[in-house]
Amino acid sequence: MKTSKRAKRRPRVIGTPSALRRAIANFRSRGRTIALVPTMGALHEGHFSLVRRAQSRADCVVVSIFVNPTQFAPHEDLNNYPRTFAADFAALAERQVALIWAPSVATMYPDDFAMRVVPGGPATVGLEDASRPHFFAGLATVVAKLLVQCEPDIALFGEKDYQQLKVVTQLARDLGLKTRIVGAPIVRERDGLALSSRNRYLGPAERQAAPMLYRALKGAAARIGAGAPIAEALKEGCETIQRGGLQLDYFEARNADTLERLQSSAGEPIRLLAAARIGTTRLIDNIAV
Ligand code: PAJ
Repeated sequence: MKTSKRAKRRPRVIGTPSALRRAIANFRSRGRTIALVPTMGALHEGHFSLVRRAQSRADCVVVSIFVNPTQFAPHEDLNNYPRTFAADFAALAERQVALIWAPSVATMYPDDFAMRVVPGGPATVGLEDASRPHFFAGLATVVAKLLVQCEPDIALFGEKDYQQLKVVTQLARDLGLKTRIVGAPIVRERDGLALSSRNRYLGPAERQAAPMLYRALKGAAARIGAGAPIAEALKEGCETIQRGGLQLDYFEARNADTLERLQSSAGEPIRLLAAARIGTTRLIDNIAV
């Protein structure tokens, strides 16, 4: 059989911690730097932007694919969460990713698993944590495991999940991990909707209404930037979202570094963050002012 000279190296798919350790040790023995891109699969351009960034900053890129049960509440979409491994594998092969870390639930959480990382600080500021009280302990536990397992030099997270990015940054710092956490900008559809694996749940009418969340954030950021009172801009933003038929969870202006409520002093960096439901799908988004 004729093989193309340009045949691409297929990523190695690894499912056990011992095989992962050997692969990482092998990279290290050759002096390679390592970047980790943690994902739950159902990959899209948002994830691929993280992979590209990782490839520009490290020699070897590890993408983890693990739908983490501990960050879902019992009533949430764990069972329906899209699982598209074949397509994810093909897309990562196309992008020359070195290694896919795809452990099973039993590997990550054996029956006698008894630990939990319970984050404070940015995980308890009353944003996602208010709507999803179980979320950040599950997230912090799995990210701590992934960082310890892969020992990457850097790990990349999207600003799409802005509070998550802050929690992970604090986690790496507080646990004294050597990994540097790197944030990456939000990738959007042409109409402004932030890409998300959950967007595939949206029916046609919902998909049409969904960009309203970003439009409201953009409008409020522009008004605040132009000097409008923050409370007024937020009120207008809330009304825009509700008029668009979305059910609002929150629409808030926070300190962009700490996610605490704004002090009255000027000159604070501001981030607007919002979450809303459309039908049974929950959308989150945010924007800098
Ligand atoms: P997941 O939703 O698959 O997202 C994986 C990474 O992709 C996260 O860092 C997320 O912020 C980033 N991402 C998602 N949509 C994006 C977009 N439109 N633009 C830029 N980046 C985007 O987030 C998780 O998985 C999980 O909580 C995880 C960190 C893997 C832990 O289980």
